[in-house]
Amino acid sequence: MRFLAALPLLCKLASSLRLDIAPNGGNASSPLLYGLLYEEIYHSGDGGLYGEMIRNRAFQGSPGPGRRASFDRNTEFWHPIGDVELSIDTTAPALSDSLTYQMRMDVPEGTTGPVGFYNDGFWGFHVDAAKRYAASFYLRGDYDGDVECFFTNTLTGEKLSSATTRASQDASQDWVQHKLPTFQPQSSASTSNNTFSFVFDGSQLAGQSVYVNLLSLFKQTYQNRDNGLREDLAQTLADLKASWIRLPGGNNMEGLSLGNQFKWNESIGSLEQRFGKLSTWGDIETQGFGLLEQMTMARDMNLTVVLGIYGGLSLNGDVVPEDELQPYVDSAMDELEFLTGDASTPMGAKRVQLGYEEPFQVDWVEISNEDYLNGGYDSYYAYRFDMFYNAIRAKYPDMHVVSTINPSPSPDTGSGAMVDLHIYDNQNHFASLYNTFDQASRKYPVFVGEYAAIREGSGAGPEIGAQTFGMACGEAIMLLGIEKNSDIILGSAYGALIKEYNEEPNTVAVIKHTANEILHSMSYYLQQLFAAHVGTETLPVTATEGGLGPVWWSATKAGRRTVLKMVNYNGATGAENAVKVHVKGSRACTAELTVFTADKETSSNKLPSQGGDEHSITTRRITGKRGVFEVAFTKPFEIVILTV
Ligand SMILES: *[C@@H]1O[C@H](CO)[C@@H](O)[C@H](O)[C@H]1NC(C)=O
Ligand SMILES: *[C@@H]1O[C@H](CO)[C@@H](O)[C@H](O)[C@H]1NC(C)=O
Ligand SMILES: *[C@@H]1O[C@H](CO)[C@@H](O)[C@H](O)[C@H]1NC(C)=O
Ligand SMILES: *[C@@H]1O[C@H](CO)[C@@H](O)[C@H](O)[C@H]1NC(C)=O
Repeated sequence: MRFLAALPLLCKLASSLRLDIAPNGGNASSPLLYGLLYEEIYHSGDGGLYGEMIRNRAFQGSPGPGRRASFDRNTEFWHPIGDVELSIDTTAPALSDSLTYQMRMDVPEGTTGPVGFYNDGFWGFHVDAAKRYAASFYLRGDYDGDVECFFTNTLTGEKLSSATTRASQDASQDWVQHKLPTFQPQSSASTSNNTFSFVFDGSQLAGQSVYVNLLSLFKQTYQNRDNGLREDLAQTLADLKASWIRLPGGNNMEGLSLGNQFKWNESIGSLEQRFGKLSTWGDIETQGFGLLEQMTMARDMNLTVVLGIYGGLSLNGDVVPEDELQPYVDSAMDELEFLTGDASTPMGAKRVQLGYEEPFQVDWVEISNEDYLNGGYDSYYAYRFDMFYNAIRAKYPDMHVVSTINPSPSPDTGSGAMVDLHIYDNQNHFASLYNTFDQASRKYPVFVGEYAAIREGSGAGPEIGAQTFGMACGEAIMLLGIEKNSDIILGSAYGALIKEYNEEPNTVAVIKHTANEILHSMSYYLQQLFAAHVGTETLPVTATEGGLGPVWWSATKAGRRTVLKMVNYNGATGAENAVKVHVKGSRACTAELTVFTADKETSSNKLPSQGGDEHSITTRRITGKRGVFEVAFTKPFEIVILTV
């Protein structure tokens, strides 16, 4: 249900809003106002940010029916070419201790033509003739011939690329890795309906079997990193210009049950050494996008890391008892030394050995995730938080240790006692949060580490698939409340950051992707816009006529400029209802006005192929007189930023 449309009479009353902005008298703004939450959810990493394009590359498990990820191995997403049979095989030697399942191809006697297999990718492949691609695979068996790899457009049958390598090996040899020369497709495909094939000479394999594992294909990556990120998605996130990131989650870091938590030590080293993880959200993870890859992403995007540490609670309520928790604390200490230690420390040396010379910066850790749920509350207060906190602070006295429960069990004050609040609710609930943080305890600084308006209006029904503009306006009002209280509310991050569109059309994310497209949500643009207009100091605002609602505001100082953000939430429009803004002490007679708007409250952004963005963001100069400006809204739901 939406708010009632404003009556003409109310519009008249709304015209008398006058705001005076003081030149000082506020608090320092938090430098961490706009952040990101990364966790693997619905192909955020594998099939998303992580650049690997082959699905089920190392037969590590399967999504299973009803989104129940399992370690059941199969040849899903692979299909035979020619009259061959594909199956899962476990005969020795395995490729590694971690990758012990391989795909076997049985080739019948008398075969002559091409044989092999093709992969479906993650909902297809993006074939872009302007980009370089690199394919590789491991082969065991007797084979002397070419292997050709190529894209095929499944809608036209057209072959779009070709790269060939020569394999010459016999059955007495162990696994041999073959790397194809990098290639650019001859032509681009306009859809993702493409497959990727590996083709052998059938006459060389007639009556035999060969084995393959760790079959890989990368398009050139963000900042050209090895084992790096999908370029367009990473660039889209970098363009948010956020200041911090929590990684690696979240519910997926906790795991569905004990044993399925994120194990940092199993997500590092060569890809052959990564066993795979059951995702909390229904698929198997290759763990190719491991701890070091995630930290590298944060560094490449200049983000302060809030490192999520497994704290002994699983989603099913498994809690590690006090007398069994120490190994997990030790593991967290190793993780911190691994990331931040120099080559003279045992774990730091291990990182350097893996090719990561430069230590990472970690000043923030968060112990566990949402411990007020799943029966985690009592043990968190009784011993879990303390055991991690004591060990971490003994070695890293300046580390900020974030609690997932409010108030923090930490003995510290200030940002040492930080808590992480999560808010998921409907649009109007967010719009009601403007003043909430005015009353917040000044003792416990807060990250709103996960939030999202997930339903329209005051709705209680199912979650929506893509935010409407009205929902973004609701979120914006909460963000204003955070900004003006940023002495105590240090920042926020939207949950979730990125999801695969085909897999999860029905829940929100900042962005959604297909193999070749990106949906930028209304919330994406809101966060980007607000992050681009942060100040260094909050400024007191006084309403000398009218009051809060339906217009909401926050003012900050950024250098010599005054920045006023306002949200019209089902309010009046037009010049006769303009808000009169007085920037006290200013003699400016021009200002910049940025307007984020959409046709309707219910407007929402789409994939480019389905209509694309429905909002507009425009900036223009307006004139005023000695620091006095009139700002008129063009729509009942609208977000504006006035910079004087
Ligand atoms: C500044 O911070 C103090 C202490 O946290 C708080 O009480 C006060 O309301 C803040 N002032 C403004 C203008 O936000
Ligand atoms: C093309 O791929 C999309 C995404 O995987 C799929 O939904 C669609 O059915 C495919 N179209 C055809 C004609 O195969
Ligand atoms: C990783 O650490 C966990 C303890 O947190 C341990 O149980 C596991 O065996 C380790 N894995 C490897 C491959 O060393
Ligand atoms: C990185 O972020 C810091 C603030 O966290 C800022 O001072 C610095 O200029 C940024 N560097 C780059 C290269 O953007």
